[in-house]
Amino acid sequence: MSLSTISLRSLLLLSLLSLHVSLNAIQAQTYPPLVNGLSWTFHDFDCPNLESIITNRLRQVFQNDIGQAAGLLRLHFHDCFVQGCDASVLLVGSASGPSEQAAPPNLSLRQQAFRIIEDLRNRVHRQCGRVVSCADITALAARDAIVLSGGPAYEVPLGRRDGTTFATRNETLRNLPAPTSNTSVLLTSLATNQNLNATDLVALSGGHTIGIGHCTSFEGRLFPARDPTMDQTFFNNLRGTCPALNTTNTTVLDIRSPNVFDNRYYVDLMNRQGLFTSDQDMYTDSRTRGIITSFAVNQTLFFEKFVYSMTKMGQLNVLTGTRGEIRANCSVRNSGNDFLSLVVESQGGDLSGF
Ligand SMILES: *[C@@H]1O[C@H](CO)[C@@H](O)[C@H](O)[C@H]1NC(C)=O
Ligand SMILES: *[C@@H]1O[C@H](CO)[C@@H](O)[C@H](O)[C@H]1NC(C)=O
Ligand SMILES: *[C@@H]1O[C@H](CO)[C@@H](O)[C@H](O)[C@H]1NC(C)=O
Ligand SMILES: *[C@@H]1O[C@H](CO)[C@@H](O)[C@H](O)[C@H]1NC(C)=O
Ligand SMILES: *[C@@H]1O[C@H](CO)[C@@H](O)[C@H](O)[C@H]1NC(C)=O
Ligand SMILES: *[C@@H]1O[C@H](CO)[C@@H](O)[C@H](O)[C@H]1NC(C)=O
Ligand SMILES: *[C@@H]1O[C@H](CO)[C@@H](O)[C@H](O)[C@H]1NC(C)=O
Ligand SMILES: *[C@@H]1O[C@H](CO)[C@@H](O)[C@H](O)[C@H]1NC(C)=O
Repeated sequence: MSLSTISLRSLLLLSLLSLHVSLNAIQAQTYPPLVNGLSWTFHDFDCPNLESIITNRLRQVFQNDIGQAAGLLRLHFHDCFVQGCDASVLLVGSASGPSEQAAPPNLSLRQQAFRIIEDLRNRVHRQCGRVVSCADITALAARDAIVLSGGPAYEVPLGRRDGTTFATRNETLRNLPAPTSNTSVLLTSLATNQNLNATDLVALSGGHTIGIGHCTSFEGRLFPARDPTMDQTFFNNLRGTCPALNTTNTTVLDIRSPNVFDNRYYVDLMNRQGLFTSDQDMYTDSRTRGIITSFAVNQTLFFEKFVYSMTKMGQLNVLTGTRGEIRANCSVRNSGNDFLSLVVESQGGDLSGF
């Protein structure tokens, strides 16, 4: 048997194996229907190593600092909630308009997350060429952040393209409910802006099982007096971390297992140890309380609903086909884009001339 036959056979075997694994992962979870233009196999041929490039790199990043996982997860959330998952959250301010980064919620996003995404894009494009969007890379990075922190494994449908318009400051504020919001505000915002319901709200809030919050986001629950829905001991400890208004201190969102993606966040809420009003009020509100209890007692159920809602969220107002572009730099639009998109449309989809 020649060497090339052996390697060809093992290659075939390997690809059959990996196909098998990914089909199993798909079947193990329940997914919402895919929107037109996204698919499970979108980059299988033009960038077969896409997922391993991202996963291998992030494994190194998280070994250094697991805190980055929460930053990457939050980046995907913020991107999808404001004008859809089109990587507009990654655009830095330019003469063309204000960027999402310049609106207040940026304060809770870790700047490092932007750099990690751009580094991943660079690695992916070096190997495959400019075929994978920053929006797809952000969605895959969020998934890996979850898996590598102990959360559920799931597949991400791909084929998103990057937006060319900035979200305005007002649009950003309207779509990202503040951590001081109550459940009514959250439910209304998610229902009207994102077509997401109470189960989605509770499941997606489970992202707070990892990451940190700033004192300024919950100090209204500490001053001038304890929010009565907050546990007394939890309050005493938080007053130590945030001794006055306006400090720049931070604390963990899930006191039971701050860096592990699990269902302990819901146990925190049942013990009145949720950090933000937007967390704790879901246990006060009768429309969401039962869902919290069901996730607190059954992690499998939480993982199942989380994957479903993440996939739903990850498809919000995506740009597909010939809409949008594949950015060559995640933080800036491609130059001459107006001209390019005209050319692309008239050619009916033969994307790259170079
Ligand atoms: C974040 O937002 C604040 C206030 O809008 C702004 O001053 C700051 O420059 C922004 N930071 C980045 C990195 O964009
Ligand atoms: C943004 O919102 C503020 C306050 O709600 C409003 O006064 C302002 O006109 C809005 N700006 C734009 C461009 O819509
Ligand atoms: C929720 O917050 C909104 C806006 O602050 C307020 O109008 C509403 O009364 C609150 N609802 C409840 C049930 O507290
Ligand atoms: C939310 O929608 C999902 C389907 O997307 C459904 O299974 C679930 O029961 C709904 N939850 C509520 C509280 O209506
Ligand atoms: C929080 O901030 C205050 C004042 O900015 C500081 O004195 C205090 O040591 C900080 N506490 C913690 C736990 O970091
Ligand atoms: C908090 O600090 C900012 C500046 O960092 C200041 O504008 C604001 O007035 C302060 N708020 C309070 C309540 O001290
Ligand atoms: C937990 O949820 C899973 C998934 O819905 C379900 O199959 C299982 O029966 C539940 N376990 C218990 C103990 O209720
Ligand atoms: C990407 O764009 C940013 C913002 O203009 C710039 O600072 C950075 O150097 C660019 N990166 C590359 C690789 O060109």
